[in-house]
Amino acid sequence: MPHEYKIASMPGDGIGPEVIDAALDVLDAVARYSGEFTLSFDNLLWGSDFYKATGTYLPSDGLETLKKYDAVLFGAVGAPDVPDSVSLWELLLTMRGSLQQYANVRPVKCLSSIEPVSRHVRPRDIDWMFVRENSEGEYAGQGGRTHSGFGWEVATEVAIFTRHGVRRIMRFAFETAASRPRKLLTVVTKSNAQRYGLVLWDEIAEEVSKEFPDVKWDKMLVDAMTVRMVRNPQSLDTIVGTNLHIDILSDLAAALAGSVGIAASANIDPTRKSPSMFEPVHGSAFDITGKGIANPLGAIWSSAMMLEWLGEKQGSMLVMNAIEKACAEGNTTGDLGGKLNTKQVTAAIISMLANPVRAYATGTTNVFPQFAEYGDFDNDLGLVNFEGGSLVMNVCSSRDNKHGHHSTTEVIGTKGRILVNGEPRILPVDISDEHGTRYLDQLDHMDHTDMFLPTFKAELARF
Ligand SMILES: NC(=O)c1ccc[n+]([C@@H]2O[C@H](COP(=O)([O-])OP(=O)(O)OC[C@H]3O[C@@H](n4cnc5c(N)ncnc54)[C@H](O)[C@@H]3O)[C@@H](O)[C@H]2O)c1
Repeated sequence: MPHEYKIASMPGDGIGPEVIDAALDVLDAVARYSGEFTLSFDNLLWGSDFYKATGTYLPSDGLETLKKYDAVLFGAVGAPDVPDSVSLWELLLTMRGSLQQYANVRPVKCLSSIEPVSRHVRPRDIDWMFVRENSEGEYAGQGGRTHSGFGWEVATEVAIFTRHGVRRIMRFAFETAASRPRKLLTVVTKSNAQRYGLVLWDEIAEEVSKEFPDVKWDKMLVDAMTVRMVRNPQSLDTIVGTNLHIDILSDLAAALAGSVGIAASANIDPTRKSPSMFEPVHGSAFDITGKGIANPLGAIWSSAMMLEWLGEKQGSMLVMNAIEKACAEGNTTGDLGGKLNTKQVTAAIISMLANPVRAYATGTTNVFPQFAEYGDFDNDLGLVNFEGGSLVMNVCSSRDNKHGHHSTTEVIGTKGRILVNGEPRILPVDISDEHGTRYLDQLDHMDHTDMFLPTFKAELARF
Protein backbone atom coordinates (compact mmCIF):
# COMPACT_ATOMS: atom_id res chain seq x y z
CA MET A 1 0.00 0.00 0.00
CA PRO A 2 1.42 3.41 -0.90
CA HIS A 3 1.98 5.53 2.18
CA GLU A 4 -0.42 8.46 2.42
CA TYR A 5 0.77 11.84 3.67
CA LYS A 6 -1.41 14.77 4.70
CA ILE A 7 0.16 18.08 3.81
CA ALA A 8 -0.93 21.54 4.93
CA SER A 9 -0.33 23.92 2.06
CA MET A 10 -0.02 27.58 3.07
CA PRO A 11 0.69 29.69 -0.01
CA GLY A 12 0.61 32.98 1.93
CA ASP A 13 1.26 36.27 0.16
CA GLY A 14 2.71 37.81 -2.99
CA ILE A 15 4.33 35.21 -5.24
CA GLY A 16 3.73 32.57 -2.55
CA PRO A 17 0.56 31.21 -4.22
CA GLU A 18 2.28 31.17 -7.64
CA VAL A 19 5.27 29.12 -6.50
CA ILE A 20 3.27 26.86 -4.18
CA ASP A 21 0.89 26.04 -7.06
CA ALA A 22 3.96 25.01 -9.01
CA ALA A 23 5.28 22.87 -6.16
CA LEU A 24 1.89 21.16 -5.69
CA ASP A 25 1.73 20.32 -9.41
CA VAL A 26 5.20 18.78 -9.23
CA LEU A 27 4.37 16.87 -6.04
CA ASP A 28 1.17 15.52 -7.62
CA ALA A 29 3.17 14.38 -10.63
CA VAL A 30 5.95 12.70 -8.66
CA ALA A 31 3.44 10.88 -6.45
CA ARG A 32 1.61 9.66 -9.55
CA TYR A 33 4.71 8.53 -11.41
CA SER A 34 6.44 6.95 -8.46
CA GLY A 35 3.35 5.09 -7.25
CA GLU A 36 5.02 4.65 -3.87
CA PHE A 37 3.14 7.28 -1.91
CA THR A 38 0.13 9.55 -2.11
CA LEU A 39 -0.20 13.12 -0.95
CA SER A 40 -3.33 14.97 0.05
CA PHE A 41 -3.23 18.73 0.43
CA ASP A 42 -5.38 21.08 2.47
CA ASN A 43 -5.08 24.67 1.40
CA LEU A 44 -4.84 26.97 4.44
CA LEU A 45 -5.37 30.58 3.45
CA TRP A 46 -3.61 32.12 6.45
CA GLY A 47 -1.75 35.14 5.17
CA SER A 48 -2.05 38.90 5.02
CA ASP A 49 -5.54 38.91 3.42
CA PHE A 50 -6.75 36.68 6.24
CA TYR A 51 -5.12 39.08 8.73
CA LYS A 52 -6.76 42.12 7.16
CA ALA A 53 -10.15 40.38 7.27
CA THR A 54 -9.90 38.87 10.77
CA GLY A 55 -7.21 40.81 12.64
CA THR A 56 -5.07 37.71 13.10
CA TYR A 57 -2.65 35.72 10.96
CA LEU A 58 -3.32 32.41 12.66
CA PRO A 59 -6.76 31.36 13.88
CA SER A 60 -6.85 30.53 17.60
CA ASP A 61 -6.70 26.79 16.89
CA GLY A 62 -4.22 27.27 14.02
CA LEU A 63 -1.25 25.61 15.67
CA GLU A 64 -3.34 22.65 16.83
CA THR A 65 -4.69 22.33 13.29
CA LEU A 66 -1.17 22.26 11.85
CA LYS A 67 -0.16 19.46 14.22
CA LYS A 68 -2.60 17.16 12.45
CA TYR A 69 -0.50 17.22 9.30
CA ASP A 70 2.63 15.30 8.35
CA ALA A 71 4.27 18.44 6.99
CA VAL A 72 3.58 22.04 6.04
CA LEU A 73 4.46 23.59 2.71
CA PHE A 74 4.68 27.35 3.01
CA GLY A 75 5.02 30.08 0.36
CA ALA A 76 5.83 33.54 1.70
CA VAL A 77 4.41 36.17 4.00
CA GLY A 78 4.57 39.94 3.75
CA ALA A 79 2.28 42.58 2.27
CA PRO A 80 3.05 46.20 1.37
CA ASP A 81 0.31 47.50 3.70
CA VAL A 82 1.22 45.42 6.77
CA PRO A 83 4.41 46.15 8.74
CA ASP A 84 6.92 43.34 8.10
CA SER A 85 7.52 42.98 11.82
CA VAL A 86 3.82 42.10 12.25
CA SER A 87 3.52 39.66 9.35
CA LEU A 88 6.76 37.86 10.07
CA TRP A 89 6.21 37.55 13.79
CA GLU A 90 2.52 36.71 13.79
CA LEU A 91 2.76 33.97 11.23
CA LEU A 92 6.16 32.58 10.33
CA LEU A 93 8.09 33.09 13.54
CA THR A 94 5.10 31.99 15.62
CA MET A 95 4.85 28.75 13.69
CA ARG A 96 8.60 28.06 13.79
CA GLY A 97 8.76 28.76 17.52
CA SER A 98 5.54 27.08 18.65
CA LEU A 99 6.18 23.97 16.60
CA GLN A 100 9.78 23.94 17.90
CA GLN A 101 11.18 23.76 14.41
CA TYR A 102 14.52 24.69 15.85
CA ALA A 103 16.71 23.71 12.91
CA ASN A 104 16.44 25.65 9.70
CA VAL A 105 18.24 23.82 6.93
CA ARG A 106 19.20 25.58 3.72
CA PRO A 107 21.04 23.68 1.01
CA VAL A 108 22.78 25.83 -1.57
CA LYS A 109 24.43 24.54 -4.66
CA CYS A 110 24.91 25.48 -8.26
CA LEU A 111 22.45 23.80 -10.55
CA SER A 112 23.42 22.75 -14.05
CA SER A 113 23.96 25.53 -16.51
CA ILE A 114 23.63 28.24 -13.87
CA GLU A 115 26.77 30.29 -13.68
CA PRO A 116 27.76 31.59 -10.27
CA VAL A 117 27.76 35.36 -10.10
CA SER A 118 31.34 35.73 -8.90
CA ARG A 119 34.27 34.99 -11.14
CA HIS A 120 36.05 33.59 -8.10
CA VAL A 121 33.47 30.85 -7.83
CA ARG A 122 33.37 27.77 -10.03
CA PRO A 123 30.01 25.98 -10.12
CA ARG A 124 31.38 22.91 -8.44
CA ASP A 125 32.71 25.00 -5.56
CA ILE A 126 29.28 25.65 -4.13
CA ASP A 127 27.71 22.73 -2.40
CA TRP A 128 26.84 23.96 1.05
CA MET A 129 24.42 23.01 3.75
CA PHE A 130 23.47 25.86 6.05
CA VAL A 131 22.08 25.05 9.47
CA ARG A 132 20.43 27.99 11.16
CA GLU A 133 19.39 28.13 14.79
CA ASN A 134 15.69 28.79 14.34
CA SER A 135 14.18 29.25 17.78
CA GLU A 136 16.10 31.86 19.75
CA GLY A 137 19.21 34.03 19.32
CA GLU A 138 18.61 37.44 17.80
CA TYR A 139 15.03 36.49 16.83
CA ALA A 140 13.98 35.41 20.32
CA GLY A 141 11.54 38.30 20.52
CA GLN A 142 12.99 39.68 23.75
CA GLY A 143 13.02 43.43 24.10
CA GLY A 144 10.76 46.40 24.18
CA ARG A 145 10.32 50.14 23.78
CA THR A 146 10.13 52.74 26.49
CA HIS A 147 9.37 56.48 26.28
CA SER A 148 7.54 55.86 23.02
CA GLY A 149 7.13 59.00 20.99
CA PHE A 150 9.56 61.09 23.04
CA GLY A 151 12.95 62.28 21.86
CA TRP A 152 14.60 59.96 24.39
CA GLU A 153 12.73 56.85 23.31
CA VAL A 154 14.70 53.67 23.87
CA ALA A 155 14.36 50.26 22.23
CA THR A 156 16.07 47.03 23.20
CA GLU A 157 16.44 43.88 21.16
CA VAL A 158 17.97 41.17 23.28
CA ALA A 159 19.54 38.09 21.76
CA ILE A 160 18.95 34.95 23.80
CA PHE A 161 21.30 32.00 23.81
CA THR A 162 20.34 29.10 26.04
CA ARG A 163 22.62 26.17 26.76
CA HIS A 164 19.79 23.84 25.71
CA GLY A 165 19.07 25.73 22.49
CA VAL A 166 22.69 26.02 21.45
CA ARG A 167 23.54 22.44 22.30
CA ARG A 168 20.65 21.00 20.30
CA ILE A 169 21.46 23.01 17.18
CA MET A 170 25.17 22.18 17.47
CA ARG A 171 24.34 18.48 17.72
CA PHE A 172 22.06 18.77 14.72
CA ALA A 173 24.80 20.58 12.76
CA PHE A 174 27.50 18.07 13.67
CA GLU A 175 25.13 15.23 12.75
CA THR A 176 24.39 16.92 9.43
CA ALA A 177 28.10 17.38 8.73
CA ALA A 178 28.79 13.76 9.71
CA SER A 179 26.16 12.57 7.23
CA ARG A 180 27.79 14.41 4.36
CA PRO A 181 30.76 13.03 2.50
CA ARG A 182 33.25 15.71 3.47
CA LYS A 183 32.38 15.66 7.19
CA LEU A 184 33.34 19.26 7.44
CA LEU A 185 31.65 21.88 9.62
CA THR A 186 32.23 25.59 9.97
CA VAL A 187 30.79 27.24 13.08
CA VAL A 188 29.98 30.88 12.39
CA THR A 189 30.35 33.20 15.35
CA LYS A 190 31.00 36.77 16.42
CA SER A 191 32.46 36.07 19.81
CA ASN A 192 35.09 38.74 19.48
CA ALA A 193 32.46 41.46 19.79
CA GLN A 194 29.55 39.63 21.40
CA ARG A 195 31.32 38.30 24.42
CA TYR A 196 28.50 36.59 26.33
CA GLY A 197 26.02 34.84 24.07
CA LEU A 198 28.48 33.97 21.38
CA VAL A 199 31.22 32.95 23.76
CA LEU A 200 28.73 30.45 25.17
CA TRP A 201 27.97 29.48 21.57
CA ASP A 202 31.66 28.78 20.93
CA GLU A 203 32.12 26.86 24.17
CA ILE A 204 29.20 24.58 23.39
CA ALA A 205 30.49 24.00 19.85
CA GLU A 206 33.76 22.88 21.40
CA GLU A 207 31.96 20.56 23.86
CA VAL A 208 29.69 19.01 21.23
CA SER A 209 32.57 18.52 18.79
CA LYS A 210 33.98 15.90 21.16
CA GLU A 211 30.96 13.69 20.44
CA PHE A 212 31.83 13.77 16.73
CA PRO A 213 35.50 12.90 16.33
CA ASP A 214 35.01 12.18 12.61
CA VAL A 215 33.87 15.70 11.85
CA LYS A 216 36.55 18.22 11.05
CA TRP A 217 35.42 21.64 12.16
CA ASP A 218 36.58 25.21 12.33
CA LYS A 219 35.28 28.52 13.60
CA MET A 220 34.78 31.67 11.58
CA LEU A 221 33.79 35.20 12.49
CA VAL A 222 30.72 36.12 10.49
CA ASP A 223 32.32 39.10 8.77
CA ALA A 224 35.28 37.05 7.60
CA MET A 225 32.85 34.33 6.57
CA THR A 226 31.37 36.54 3.83
CA VAL A 227 34.84 36.90 2.32
CA ARG A 228 35.56 33.19 2.58
CA MET A 229 32.28 32.32 0.83
CA VAL A 230 33.29 34.45 -2.14
CA ARG A 231 37.04 33.87 -2.18
CA ASN A 232 37.41 30.33 -0.98
CA PRO A 233 34.02 28.67 -1.41
CA GLN A 234 35.36 25.16 -1.88
CA SER A 235 36.72 25.22 1.67
CA LEU A 236 33.15 25.10 3.03
CA ASP A 237 30.60 22.33 3.35
CA THR A 238 28.22 22.38 6.35
CA ILE A 239 27.84 25.73 8.07
CA VAL A 240 26.06 26.43 11.35
CA GLY A 241 25.23 29.84 12.74
CA THR A 242 22.76 31.89 14.69
CA ASN A 243 19.31 32.89 13.53
CA LEU A 244 20.48 36.27 12.21
CA HIS A 245 23.86 35.23 10.84
CA ILE A 246 22.55 32.39 8.68
CA ASP A 247 19.55 34.46 7.60
CA ILE A 248 22.01 36.85 5.99
CA LEU A 249 24.71 34.41 4.86
CA SER A 250 22.25 32.07 3.16
CA ASP A 251 20.88 34.90 1.01
CA LEU A 252 24.44 35.73 -0.03
CA ALA A 253 24.98 32.05 -0.76
CA ALA A 254 21.83 31.85 -2.90
CA ALA A 255 22.88 34.91 -4.87
CA LEU A 256 26.35 33.43 -5.40
CA ALA A 257 24.75 30.24 -6.68
CA GLY A 258 22.52 32.09 -9.14
CA SER A 259 19.38 33.60 -7.60
CA VAL A 260 17.42 33.78 -4.39
CA GLY A 261 14.62 32.27 -6.48
CA ILE A 262 16.23 28.81 -6.28
CA ALA A 263 16.94 28.84 -2.55
CA ALA A 264 15.07 26.19 -0.57
CA SER A 265 14.68 25.63 3.12
CA ALA A 266 13.27 23.33 5.76
CA ASN A 267 12.19 24.26 9.27
CA ILE A 268 12.77 21.02 11.06
CA ASP A 269 11.61 19.69 14.38
CA PRO A 270 14.22 16.95 14.66
CA THR A 271 12.21 15.25 17.43
CA ARG A 272 9.32 14.82 14.94
CA LYS A 273 6.84 15.75 17.67
CA SER A 274 5.49 18.51 15.42
CA PRO A 275 5.30 18.70 11.65
CA SER A 276 8.23 20.32 9.91
CA MET A 277 7.67 23.18 7.49
CA PHE A 278 9.21 23.57 4.06
CA GLU A 279 9.44 26.91 2.28
CA PRO A 280 11.42 28.77 -0.34
CA VAL A 281 13.85 31.25 1.20
CA HIS A 282 12.54 34.19 -0.79
CA GLY A 283 9.76 36.52 0.32
CA SER A 284 6.60 37.84 -1.28
CA ALA A 285 8.50 39.68 -4.04
CA PHE A 286 5.96 42.49 -4.55
CA ASP A 287 7.79 43.69 -7.65
CA ILE A 288 6.93 40.56 -9.64
CA THR A 289 3.71 39.40 -7.96
CA GLY A 290 0.99 38.48 -10.45
CA LYS A 291 3.30 38.64 -13.46
CA GLY A 292 3.66 34.86 -13.64
CA ILE A 293 7.44 35.07 -13.86
CA ALA A 294 8.49 33.98 -10.35
CA ASN A 295 11.10 31.28 -10.27
CA PRO A 296 9.35 28.20 -8.82
CA LEU A 297 12.56 26.25 -8.16
CA GLY A 298 12.96 27.36 -4.54
CA ALA A 299 9.47 26.07 -3.73
CA ILE A 300 9.91 22.91 -5.79
CA TRP A 301 13.29 22.18 -4.22
CA SER A 302 11.70 22.74 -0.78
CA SER A 303 9.04 20.19 -1.64
CA ALA A 304 11.82 17.73 -2.57
CA MET A 305 13.26 18.36 0.91
CA MET A 306 9.83 17.66 2.33
CA LEU A 307 9.65 14.30 0.55
CA GLU A 308 13.08 13.41 1.86
CA TRP A 309 12.08 14.32 5.42
CA LEU A 310 8.94 12.21 5.07
CA GLY A 311 11.15 9.26 4.09
CA GLU A 312 10.41 9.33 0.35
CA LYS A 313 14.03 9.60 -0.72
CA GLN A 314 13.55 8.31 -4.22
CA GLY A 315 10.64 10.67 -4.87
CA SER A 316 12.80 13.48 -3.58
CA MET A 317 15.65 12.51 -5.82
CA LEU A 318 13.36 12.25 -8.83
CA VAL A 319 12.28 15.84 -8.25
CA MET A 320 15.86 17.02 -7.80
CA ASN A 321 16.97 15.20 -10.92
CA ALA A 322 14.10 16.76 -12.87
CA ILE A 323 15.09 20.21 -11.61
CA GLU A 324 18.71 19.58 -12.63
CA LYS A 325 17.72 18.32 -16.04
CA ALA A 326 15.30 21.16 -16.68
CA CYS A 327 18.03 23.67 -15.80
CA ALA A 328 20.64 21.83 -17.86
CA GLU A 329 18.36 22.17 -20.87
CA GLY A 330 17.90 25.88 -20.31
CA ASN A 331 14.34 25.79 -18.96
CA THR A 332 14.68 28.68 -16.54
CA THR A 333 13.00 31.92 -15.55
CA GLY A 334 14.39 35.41 -16.15
CA ASP A 335 16.25 35.69 -12.82
CA LEU A 336 18.45 32.83 -14.05
CA GLY A 337 18.82 34.33 -17.50
CA GLY A 338 16.10 32.17 -19.07
CA LYS A 339 13.01 33.11 -21.04
CA LEU A 340 10.35 30.90 -19.48
CA ASN A 341 7.59 31.85 -17.08
CA THR A 342 6.64 30.06 -13.86
CA LYS A 343 4.16 27.70 -15.50
CA GLN A 344 6.51 26.81 -18.35
CA VAL A 345 9.36 25.93 -15.97
CA THR A 346 6.96 23.85 -13.91
CA ALA A 347 5.71 22.08 -17.04
CA ALA A 348 9.32 21.37 -18.08
CA ILE A 349 10.03 19.78 -14.70
CA ILE A 350 6.85 17.72 -14.84
CA SER A 351 7.70 16.52 -18.31
CA MET A 352 11.09 15.38 -16.99
CA LEU A 353 9.21 13.45 -14.33
CA ALA A 354 6.86 12.00 -16.93
CA ASN A 355 9.80 10.73 -18.96
CA PRO A 356 12.25 9.80 -16.29
CA VAL A 357 15.46 8.15 -17.10
CA ARG A 358 14.66 4.58 -16.14
CA ALA A 359 17.60 4.31 -13.83
CA TYR A 360 18.11 7.19 -11.51
CA ALA A 361 20.74 7.75 -8.94
CA THR A 362 20.38 6.66 -5.40
CA GLY A 363 23.86 7.80 -4.56
CA THR A 364 27.48 7.51 -5.50
CA THR A 365 29.93 5.14 -3.98
CA ASN A 366 33.07 6.80 -5.14
CA VAL A 367 34.94 8.50 -7.88
CA PHE A 368 38.14 7.34 -9.37
CA PRO A 369 40.23 9.84 -11.24
CA GLN A 370 42.80 7.08 -11.57
CA PHE A 371 40.57 5.22 -14.02
CA ALA A 372 40.66 7.87 -16.69
CA GLU A 373 42.38 5.35 -18.96
CA TYR A 374 39.06 3.53 -19.26
CA GLY A 375 37.36 6.43 -20.91
CA ASP A 376 37.78 8.57 -23.95
CA PHE A 377 37.55 11.83 -22.07
CA ASP A 378 39.56 13.77 -19.65
CA ASN A 379 37.01 14.10 -16.92
CA ASP A 380 36.75 11.97 -13.86
CA LEU A 381 35.06 8.65 -13.55
CA GLY A 382 32.62 7.62 -10.93
CA LEU A 383 30.55 4.69 -9.97
CA VAL A 384 26.94 5.51 -9.31
CA ASN A 385 24.49 3.20 -7.64
CA PHE A 386 21.25 3.12 -9.49
CA GLU A 387 18.01 1.46 -8.81
CA GLY A 388 18.68 -1.99 -10.12
CA GLY A 389 22.42 -1.73 -10.42
CA SER A 390 25.37 0.51 -10.75
CA LEU A 391 26.72 2.38 -13.70
CA VAL A 392 30.05 3.81 -14.51
CA MET A 393 29.79 7.45 -15.31
CA ASN A 394 31.76 10.25 -16.72
CA VAL A 395 31.55 13.27 -14.51
CA CYS A 396 31.33 16.22 -16.83
CA SER A 397 33.24 18.80 -14.94
CA SER A 398 34.03 21.19 -17.72
CA ARG A 399 32.08 24.40 -17.78
CA ASP A 400 31.66 24.56 -21.49
CA ASN A 401 30.13 21.13 -21.72
CA LYS A 402 26.69 21.74 -23.06
CA HIS A 403 25.24 19.45 -20.43
CA GLY A 404 26.47 21.62 -17.64
CA HIS A 405 28.95 21.34 -14.88
CA HIS A 406 29.80 18.81 -12.25
CA SER A 407 26.33 17.87 -11.22
CA THR A 408 25.53 16.56 -14.65
CA THR A 409 26.93 13.18 -15.32
CA GLU A 410 27.20 11.16 -18.44
CA VAL A 411 26.87 7.44 -18.27
CA ILE A 412 29.45 5.66 -20.37
CA GLY A 413 30.83 2.25 -21.09
CA THR A 414 34.38 1.47 -22.00
CA LYS A 415 33.65 2.80 -25.43
CA GLY A 416 30.82 5.17 -26.16
CA ARG A 417 27.80 5.77 -24.05
CA ILE A 418 25.59 3.37 -22.26
CA LEU A 419 22.31 2.77 -24.00
CA VAL A 420 19.27 2.94 -21.78
CA ASN A 421 16.08 1.76 -23.46
CA GLY A 422 17.95 1.78 -26.75
CA GLU A 423 18.99 5.40 -26.52
CA PRO A 424 22.16 7.09 -25.40
CA ARG A 425 21.33 8.66 -22.11
CA ILE A 426 22.61 11.63 -20.28
CA LEU A 427 21.62 11.24 -16.68
CA PRO A 428 21.38 14.31 -14.53
CA VAL A 429 22.65 12.96 -11.28
CA ASP A 430 23.53 14.74 -8.14
CA ILE A 431 26.78 13.14 -7.24
CA SER A 432 27.46 15.37 -4.33
CA ASP A 433 24.34 14.74 -2.34
CA GLU A 434 24.26 13.26 1.09
CA HIS A 435 24.71 9.75 -0.25
CA GLY A 436 27.53 10.68 -2.50
CA THR A 437 31.14 11.44 -2.28
CA ARG A 438 32.23 14.86 -3.27
CA TYR A 439 34.14 13.95 -6.24
CA LEU A 440 37.05 16.07 -7.11
CA ASP A 441 39.77 17.84 -5.27
CA GLN A 442 39.57 16.18 -1.93
CA LEU A 443 39.69 12.71 -3.45
CA ASP A 444 42.50 13.26 -5.85
CA HIS A 445 45.07 12.36 -3.29
CA MET A 446 43.41 9.09 -2.37
CA ASP A 447 44.34 5.92 -4.12
CA HIS A 448 41.33 3.69 -4.41
CA THR A 449 42.65 1.75 -7.34
CA ASP A 450 43.23 -1.56 -5.61
CA MET A 451 40.09 -1.38 -3.62
CA PHE A 452 37.71 -0.50 -6.42
CA LEU A 453 39.18 -1.87 -9.63
CA PRO A 454 37.42 -5.25 -9.35
CA THR A 455 34.08 -3.57 -8.70
CA PHE A 456 34.67 -1.21 -11.54
CA LYS A 457 35.41 -4.00 -14.02
CA ALA A 458 32.47 -6.07 -12.80
CA GLU A 459 30.12 -3.15 -13.28
CA LEU A 460 31.41 -2.55 -16.78
CA ALA A 461 30.87 -6.20 -17.59
CA ARG A 462 27.19 -5.86 -16.73
CA PHE A 463 26.74 -3.56 -19.66
N1 LIG B 1 10.03 33.65 4.38
C1 LIG B 1 9.28 34.69 4.06
O1 LIG B 1 8.06 34.60 4.00
C2 LIG B 1 9.94 35.99 3.74
C3 LIG B 1 11.31 36.05 3.45
C4 LIG B 1 11.84 37.27 3.05
C5 LIG B 1 11.03 38.38 2.96
N2 LIG B 1 9.71 38.28 3.27
C6 LIG B 1 8.78 39.40 3.10
O2 LIG B 1 8.57 39.56 1.69
C7 LIG B 1 8.40 40.95 1.40
C8 LIG B 1 9.39 41.40 0.34
O3 LIG B 1 10.71 41.24 0.88
P1 LIG B 1 12.04 41.48 0.08
O4 LIG B 1 11.75 42.30 -1.13
O5 LIG B 1 13.05 41.92 1.03
O6 LIG B 1 12.52 40.02 -0.37
P2 LIG B 1 12.00 39.09 -1.57
O7 LIG B 1 12.67 37.78 -1.41
O8 LIG B 1 10.53 39.06 -1.59
O9 LIG B 1 12.51 39.81 -2.92
C9 LIG B 1 13.86 40.22 -3.10
C10 LIG B 1 14.17 40.29 -4.61
O10 LIG B 1 14.30 38.97 -5.12
C11 LIG B 1 13.39 38.76 -6.18
N3 LIG B 1 12.82 37.42 -6.03
C12 LIG B 1 12.43 36.85 -4.86
N4 LIG B 1 11.93 35.63 -5.11
C13 LIG B 1 12.01 35.43 -6.43
C14 LIG B 1 11.62 34.35 -7.29
N5 LIG B 1 11.06 33.22 -6.83
N6 LIG B 1 11.83 34.50 -8.62
C15 LIG B 1 12.41 35.59 -9.12
N7 LIG B 1 12.79 36.66 -8.36
C16 LIG B 1 12.59 36.57 -7.03
C17 LIG B 1 12.30 39.80 -6.00
O11 LIG B 1 11.66 40.07 -7.24
C18 LIG B 1 13.06 40.96 -5.41
O12 LIG B 1 13.63 41.72 -6.45
C19 LIG B 1 8.53 41.69 2.74
O13 LIG B 1 7.25 41.86 3.26
C20 LIG B 1 9.31 40.74 3.61
O14 LIG B 1 9.08 40.86 4.98
C21 LIG B 1 9.14 37.10 3.64
